[in-house]
Amino acid sequence: MKEQSKATLSFPDGTAPIELPIYSGTIGPQVIDIRKLYAQTDRFTFDPGFMSTAACESKITYIDGDKGELLYRGYPIEQLAEHCDYLQTCYLLLNGELPDDEQRRDFENRVTNHTMVHEQMTRFLQGFRRDAHPMAVLVGMVGALSAFYHDSLDISDPEHRFVSAIRLIAKMPTLVAMAYKYSMGQPFMYPLNRLSYSANFMRMMFGTPCEDYEPNDVLVRALDRILILHADHEQNASTSTVRLAGSSGANPFACIAAGIATLWGPAHGGANEASLLMLRDIQREGGVERIGEFIAKVKDKHSNVKLMGFGHRVYKNYDPRAKLMRETSHEVLGELGLHDDPLFALAMKLEKIALEDDYFVQRKLYPNVDFYSGIVQKALGIPTEMFTCIFALARTVGWIAQWGEMIADPDQKIGRPRQLYTGHARRDVRVPAKRKG
Ligand code: ACO
Repeated sequence: MKEQSKATLSFPDGTAPIELPIYSGTIGPQVIDIRKLYAQTDRFTFDPGFMSTAACESKITYIDGDKGELLYRGYPIEQLAEHCDYLQTCYLLLNGELPDDEQRRDFENRVTNHTMVHEQMTRFLQGFRRDAHPMAVLVGMVGALSAFYHDSLDISDPEHRFVSAIRLIAKMPTLVAMAYKYSMGQPFMYPLNRLSYSANFMRMMFGTPCEDYEPNDVLVRALDRILILHADHEQNASTSTVRLAGSSGANPFACIAAGIATLWGPAHGGANEASLLMLRDIQREGGVERIGEFIAKVKDKHSNVKLMGFGHRVYKNYDPRAKLMRETSHEVLGELGLHDDPLFALAMKLEKIALEDDYFVQRKLYPNVDFYSGIVQKALGIPTEMFTCIFALARTVGWIAQWGEMIADPDQKIGRPRQLYTGHARRDVRVPAKRKG
C-alpha cells in the first residue's frame, strides 16, 4: 500500500480542513484513508451496504466489475478453470503461488488424510429433523467442528491455522454429503481416498454400499470447475462476515459457520437455487411463451419480482464465471444426452431477451454465475436444496484464506462499524403515579 497523494476534506461549519492520505494498490481504484477522521473531526462516514468502503487490504482476489475480470492471486479465472484443478486452486489461494509437482502431491496427501470426520459427528447429525434444510445442517455441523478438533484452535499459531484450513477443505465434502444422505435416509458413504477430491465427493453423494459408483470424467470435471469458479470472490457478504467474526478472535470453524449462514440468503449464495426455481415456475406457467410476461413483472417496481441469477454488486458486465458455466452446461448436457433440456433452452432465451432489453441494459444487469450453475448442478443430479451447500463447499477455501490473511496481519483490529443514530434522543420512563389509599 503506497501513499500517492492526499485529499483535502473541508467542512461548511468552520471546522479546520483535514488531509486524508490516498493509497494505490497494484490495480483497481485508489482508496482514501479515513481512519483518523473521527479522531480529527468528530464525524463518521456513512456507507450502508459498503458501497464505497474498502474494509481491508488483501492480496488474494481481484475483480474488475466493469471489464468482467476475476483474478485469483493475479491469475485469470479462465486460465485456472482450463489448466488447473480445484485443489491446485486451493493451494494457490492459501499460499499465493501455484504448487510445483512435489508441493501439489504433498498438499493433496494432507487434504486426503483429513477427509473423515469424527465418528461422533454422525450422532450429532442425527439430532436434526430429516426434513431440515441442508444449509441449516451444514451451519450446525461446521460450527460443531470446533467442539471436535480442539487441537487446532490456537489462532495465534500458524501451524494450527494451517491444520484448521486443511481440515475444513478436506471435511466439507464429507459433511455436505452426510447432510444429503441424511435427508435421503440413506447410509453415509465414507470417503475413498484413492479418488480425486471431486470424484470422491460425487461418490459420497451418489454412491451406495450396494453398488460400485463409477465417476464419469466429464461430470467430475464439471463439478471441479464449479468449485474453482466459486472458490473466492474477494470481500463479498459471506467473506466479510467471516472476517468480522474472525476479528474478535473467534475460532476458524465458528467463523466459517457464520460465513455459511450469510451465504444462505437468496441475494447471495441462495441465488442459484432461486434461479432454477424461477426457471421451473416459468416453465410450468407456459415456458418460452410466457417470458415476455415474466420480464414485464420483473420490470414492475411494485411486483418485487427479480430476474434471479442476473445483476451483481460488483460486475457491471458479463460475470466471467457465467461464461465458463454456460460452456460447462453445454458439455454436461451433451455428455448426458440432455441437449434438449427445456430449462436450459428457457435460460438461453431469457438471457437473450434480457440482454437486449433497455431495463437491463441501462442498469448494466448481466447474468451472474448462478444463472447457469443451477442447470449444471441439476444435470449432475444434485437436488436444488443442495446447491448452496455446494457453493459453501467451494467457498470454504476462500473464506479460510481471507481469514488467515487477516489473522496474520499485525495491524488487525476487531471490526466495529459505527452508525448514524436516528432514534429517540434521551428520554425518561414515565412512572405511573402511585394510587392513594
Ligand atoms: N432483476 C431485476 N432488477 C434488478 C435485478 C434483477 N436481478 N438486480 C438489480 N435490479 C435493479 C434494481 O431493482 C435497481 O433498479 P432501480 O435503479 O430502478 O431501483 C437496480 O437494478 C440496481 O440494483 P441494486 O439492487 O441497487 O443492486 P445491488 O448491487 O444492491 O444488488 C444483487 C446486487 C443483490 C445481486 C441484485 O442484482 C439481485 O438481487 N440479483 C438477483 C439475485 C442474484 O442473482 N444474486 C446472486 C449474486 S452473485 C453471487 O452471490 C454469487
